[in-house]
Amino acid sequence: MKDITIITIIAAKNIKKGEKMERTDYNGELRLSDVGREVKLVGWVSTRRRLGAIEFIDLRDNTGIVQLMIKEGVEVPDVRNEYVISVTGTVSKKEVPNPKLPTGEIEIIVKELKVVNKAENPPFIIADKTDALEETRLQYRYLDLRRPEMQRRLRVRAKIVQLTHEYLDKNRFLEVETPILNLATPEGARDYIVPSRLHHGSFYALPQSPQLFKQLLMIGGIERYYQIAKCFRDEDLRADRQPEFTQIDVECSFMEQDDILTLCEGMLQRYFKEIVNFDVQLPLRRLNYWDAMDTYGSDKPDTRYGLTLKDVYAIMKKTSFAGFDDAKYIRAIVIPNHATETSRKVLDELQVEARKFGLKGVMSLKYNGGALSGSFTKFMDEAAQKELIETLALNEDDLVLFAGSPYRRDVDFGLGALRTRFAKEMGLIKPGTYDLLWVINFPMFDKIEGTEDQYTAEHHPFTRPRDEDLQYLDTDPEKVLAYAYDICINGYEAGGGTLRIYDHDTQWKIFKLLGLSDEDVAKKFGWFIDAFKYGAPPHGGFALGLDRLSMILSGTDNIRDVEAFPKNLQAVDPMSKAPAGVSQEALDTVGIELKKE
Ligand code: AMO
Repeated sequence: MKDITIITIIAAKNIKKGEKMERTDYNGELRLSDVGREVKLVGWVSTRRRLGAIEFIDLRDNTGIVQLMIKEGVEVPDVRNEYVISVTGTVSKKEVPNPKLPTGEIEIIVKELKVVNKAENPPFIIADKTDALEETRLQYRYLDLRRPEMQRRLRVRAKIVQLTHEYLDKNRFLEVETPILNLATPEGARDYIVPSRLHHGSFYALPQSPQLFKQLLMIGGIERYYQIAKCFRDEDLRADRQPEFTQIDVECSFMEQDDILTLCEGMLQRYFKEIVNFDVQLPLRRLNYWDAMDTYGSDKPDTRYGLTLKDVYAIMKKTSFAGFDDAKYIRAIVIPNHATETSRKVLDELQVEARKFGLKGVMSLKYNGGALSGSFTKFMDEAAQKELIETLALNEDDLVLFAGSPYRRDVDFGLGALRTRFAKEMGLIKPGTYDLLWVINFPMFDKIEGTEDQYTAEHHPFTRPRDEDLQYLDTDPEKVLAYAYDICINGYEAGGGTLRIYDHDTQWKIFKLLGLSDEDVAKKFGWFIDAFKYGAPPHGGFALGLDRLSMILSGTDNIRDVEAFPKNLQAVDPMSKAPAGVSQEALDTVGIELKKE
């Protein structure tokens, strides 16, 4: 992880006299140039230790740690870890500097030390290196937040927000807030719902995103909108998913896809420069959705390493393996130096992983001594084996994994998951490196597996199909690609957006294709699509996941590290224990009777 070059949040030596808790300086900012000065400091006791007659205290505030030295004769009250204290003393040069601390060349010779507040023994040590369980850290989050690492991450997050305001303000965007208590928006996840007191039996939905409102703002003539928007989605949680999260939400009128991508790239470039001092080269690479899927097995590929998927349909379809009879797609990945070392147990684990993506399984072959081995060879004649070795350009000790399916996405995602697994295991991903790219030209629809003509929207139903594909809407919806784009960073979907449909008739047609009846459309979206009758401008936008960007830019793969008070994987706040039951009276007020379990 590169050093974060965040500008310190508080300007040094900028402390007003007369503040209740008098302090002259921030602890982490004292340097050799301060030697000789008398200072007044406050903070938390990080550690206390004795060396003969001398005592040392590490004093922490939100800028860092400075060492206090207490010589014999200075009266020291009983201070323990996490006590809040104030001290007066003189900055002095340390005889043996501590290179690990920015303040390591100096120490404070204490004249007076006062206890401001006592602390109980904390349940874990408050330092960057902690072996405390995450659940304990979340239960005592206010203590966890005292750890410098946590504060650094929150500063990264705040810096992104600050840069966003600056950048979008300069580009004439207007910040507008949109409601939290809404009619449900169709973003694909489950809604969090809120019962209405005044209208028993009616519910508001918390926004999964401000999607419909930002489009209405365009119809409202705002032209350029943005918002740091709280979003709520009741979905299964993962390391990069929280039930409530924040989007940097943007919408603009009269801009084409290229203009929007360029605008977003400029903002990303600033984040990376200002926060991790990384020069993002623009324009970013743009990968077609199906190229990304077929090559990397992902719609958010990490392209910092190879292990790409190879099409082996033509070879494998000729084999006598009955499992491929209904396959329309067969692909392989080659894992170097893994033929010998990969155990039966690992291969079994891969089956389980592949099945999560709808595959029946994943087959393997090993390449050693110039020949293929493995039970699958019995389905392949010599010519097929030779062709496979040549097509995949196999090297000694290569492991070949392959799978087939009638569904292109299943094969791609299934093998893509294995690609990621081996890349991690083989250490192919260098920390502190960044890979930014767009995935564009997403399909408009996703056929529901096992059906002939039922579709869901790949993004959302307001996405505009590409002009050249409108002709296939009636005949071959699967062929229709959309003006839809995702920004992928290091294998994360950091954001995404689309151009929107702006004419009433196309919008209706899309709803029909998604299987919604006239009645459904009128009831769910009538209020929204009516607005398109009154001169809607062409418009489009995107939303970046602030939490995911904060993760990437602060070097963590855990979204809970970049939110001050996150929920755990069970969507529970271990500190307050939310969610919780409510009183009968509260239920009666909103007209709700609980089902007996
Ligand atoms: P989308 O659903 O792709 O698009 O969301 C945009 C970005 O929000 C982030 N994100 C999340 N972050 C944390 N936890 C979650 N549960 C979560 N879900 C999404 C991701 C994602 O890329 N309205 C559209 C945007 C648009 O079309 O303008 C939308 O919400 O980083």
